[in-house]
Amino acid sequence: MVEFSLPPGSDPVVGKTFKAPSGAKNVKAFKIYRYDPDSGNNPQIDTFEIDLDDCGPMILDALIKIKNEVDATLTFRRSCREGICGSCAMNIDGTNTLACLKPIAEVKGDCHIYPLPHMPVIKDLVPDLNLPYAQLRSIEPWMQADTPAPANQERLQSIEEREKLDGLWECILCFSCQTSCPSYWWNADKYLGPAVLLQAYRWIADSRDEATGKRLDYLDDPFKVYRCHTIMNCTNTCPKGLNPGKAIAEIKKLQFERQ
Ligand code: SF4
Ligand code: FES
Repeated sequence: MVEFSLPPGSDPVVGKTFKAPSGAKNVKAFKIYRYDPDSGNNPQIDTFEIDLDDCGPMILDALIKIKNEVDATLTFRRSCREGICGSCAMNIDGTNTLACLKPIAEVKGDCHIYPLPHMPVIKDLVPDLNLPYAQLRSIEPWMQADTPAPANQERLQSIEEREKLDGLWECILCFSCQTSCPSYWWNADKYLGPAVLLQAYRWIADSRDEATGKRLDYLDDPFKVYRCHTIMNCTNTCPKGLNPGKAIAEIKKLQFERQ
């Protein structure tokens, strides 16, 4: 398990505590990062005591319960609640993951919830993802082919060609891997990061795409790919079980074979 901690002295201040309803017997404390840019205050950690006998099984269920019943200002992203949209990624119990796929029962003791690390925070658990989305745009994540598609037919692939996309197409762009990577923390302005590089390789590996040379040219740069030092936090933290580290290695291999 990949764990992250804040540098000493940078812990947010202790905030408010919301007690469990009287009579609750199965209480768990959720310690949640709060930041409201409009308040002018430093971030703080609020504690919400939740009766697990009156709550769904996932971390997202607890967050929704808190928002609905305790503090409507608690701010987080979520949409599908089943690991498909990628929007509920956050740091839970020291690991980047999806709140909707993380069972509360897997967290021993108090549950600490922070936004994805090393990104600017818009509010509470909502990180600013403009940079990784701009980086995603830069790799042009769509099929490019000059050869016209066959008349009245899709562009076909063999079973073997299609299998090369397994482990890539499943990425939901949650950016858990991207924000777990120390190389990305230190060089986010120049290194594309594991999520974006996995997406880049998804198109390089697609037999229907005819822009492989252009794509590899774009990535041929000391920072865009080669700031990856194979730390592998990305692969260890991916909540979909994907392997961005392997995708990056495949790009490096193709770059090497072109020399
Ligand atoms: S590779 Fe995994 S962790 Fe990274 S963005 Fe895709 S789904 Fe999220
Ligand atoms: S709410 Fe869509 S992945 Fe969690």
